[in-house]
Amino acid sequence: GTQKLWGGRFTGETDPLMHLYNASLPYDYKMYKADLEGTKVYTAGLQKLDLLTPDELSKIHHGLDEIKKEWDSDSFVRHPNDEDIHTANERRLGEIIGRDIAGKVHTGRSRNDQCVTDLRIFCRDTLNEKLLPALIDLIKVLIKRSRDEIDILMPGYTHLQRAQPIRWSHWLSSYATYFTEDYKRLLQIQDRLNVSPLGAGALAGHPYGIDREFLAEGLGFNGVIGNSLVAVSDRDFVVELMFWGTLFMNHISRFAEDLVIYSTAEFGFIKLSDAYSTGSSLMPQKKNADSLELLRGKSGRVFGDMAGFLMSLKGIPSTYDKDMQEDKESLFDALTTVEHSILIATGVVSTLSVQKEKMEAALTMDMLATDLADYLVRRGVPFRETHHISGECVAQAERLKLSGIDKLSLEQYKKIDSRFEADLFETFNFEQSVERRDATGGTAKSAIFKQLDNLESQI
Ligand code: ARG
Repeated sequence: GTQKLWGGRFTGETDPLMHLYNASLPYDYKMYKADLEGTKVYTAGLQKLDLLTPDELSKIHHGLDEIKKEWDSDSFVRHPNDEDIHTANERRLGEIIGRDIAGKVHTGRSRNDQCVTDLRIFCRDTLNEKLLPALIDLIKVLIKRSRDEIDILMPGYTHLQRAQPIRWSHWLSSYATYFTEDYKRLLQIQDRLNVSPLGAGALAGHPYGIDREFLAEGLGFNGVIGNSLVAVSDRDFVVELMFWGTLFMNHISRFAEDLVIYSTAEFGFIKLSDAYSTGSSLMPQKKNADSLELLRGKSGRVFGDMAGFLMSLKGIPSTYDKDMQEDKESLFDALTTVEHSILIATGVVSTLSVQKEKMEAALTMDMLATDLADYLVRRGVPFRETHHISGECVAQAERLKLSGIDKLSLEQYKKIDSRFEADLFETFNFEQSVERRDATGGTAKSAIFKQLDNLESQI
């Protein structure tokens, strides 16, 4: 006969490769704490139904505490027949407190409600302990740099062509804004995932009338899942978390790509610290932005985790099927990759140095052509017309091989349009151009400080 927990109806042995193929303990051991907590609260629920005596309950809880110590100290000994964290913990409980009592903990419970209870607790705790605090740190570092370096100007780009001057802080603040939205989005997901499947049984519900609200409250859930079939088969929270990770990594990837460009010798706007760069095995002069390239590259990996599991999920009939065990490896990989990426991005931002002169030297007068058009708008000329006039000035300066539109004389300006006056030359000031954009969300100092205050109030 077989030693397996479910071995009663079996006479034959499991094929050895099938055993390995089926086992999830190599990765779901990570949920040991949630599993032990779940069993503690579940058995308290059984005791309320008089399915356990107070004495049995206290022995069970003592045994569960012992098992937790073993996992915490890395001394838990795995048995070859342990299939997953649930069977491993139950087997060990029997060894510690005796099988006659340990054999009662699974009354009315199934691994179907148990495994997904554990996974929801694990996700909630990972968000609270790791992802949310790390995200806050990243946002704070961006906000701090943004405040400290408010005076630095740089070219803003569209189509990667020089467009209009902006503050470096405006760029920093733009990613702080994306990441703050990511933070808020994650809180919403956490709210939705933190509901209890426990007490749903294998699929049909609990035969002893267990108090599911009591179980939910004991485990820190917001409420119970209202349909037992959904309780055991819903993995939307897994997909949603990986979708969140995919979108977050997309933001990280674009952020990294900007910095890759800014760190090239051709741009030279920033220098990465040695801590986040690597060299070349052949070319001694090289300093490569590997941290940024990995941030960009790993965004593909998290998307793959999501896409892979979503593909597994799509054809599964109601309710639990073993396909669903595939939820964990992709989710754990996505969560770890995202967590590490947040930490690396935070390190990169807090240690890079800005090359202020290079940024400001990259500002060119033609980037003020819009401001020149605005000059005439302030004198009552319709913008469509001023846009055309300003374009002519750019073309004329180019024809005369001047270094910029500021080098045309007043006479030359008046020839293009008689409404130009001597004060037009005041337009050619990057600082003023930036400061004029003080409406909400703009790149003027006051508007950036407002953005930063607003972001700070949300984290
Ligand atoms: N290891 C399984 C998982 O992670 C636990 C659930 C097993 N349930 C079952 N009926 N075989 O999904």
